[in-house]
Amino acid sequence: KRVLILNGPNLNLLGTREKSIYGADTLADIEALCRAACEKAGLACDFRQSNHEGELVDWIQSARRTADAIIINPAAYSHTSVAIHDALRAAEKPVVEVHLSNIHQREAFRHHSYVSAVAVGVICGFGPKGYTLAIEAAADILN
Ligand code: DQA
Repeated sequence: KRVLILNGPNLNLLGTREKSIYGADTLADIEALCRAACEKAGLACDFRQSNHEGELVDWIQSARRTADAIIINPAAYSHTSVAIHDALRAAEKPVVEVHLSNIHQREAFRHHSYVSAVAVGVICGFGPKGYTLAIEAAADILN
């Protein structure tokens, strides 16, 4: 089985961006963590990042054919994107939402996510470990 792991805008800056909130790990570090966790769980891993909402929508649409589950950190688009919500709903695949930070502890505009309503579950506040937990959850759902 194959899992598509999507990362939204500005996550390419991890490791340099607001380290006190997001930690020192780079996106490449998180990708390595995900590849190891997927291998352990017996899942093939497709790991991507985009700063563009439409590109994320295109990737979610193609996941209809190419993935069995979607793990997504939609970043700022969590709080704004009906398009990503609709694409995830149309994909008809199990979705696990991840955030590095605890969005509920932060500004009010981060408390609502359009993605949560189409996710099986949400993991937030555990940093990069959240991706590992999401992969374990996806593996459980798929097995
Ligand atoms: C984030 C939280 C979002 O509110 C923010 O816009 C991000 C990252 C997280 O992983 O904690 O870019 O999704």
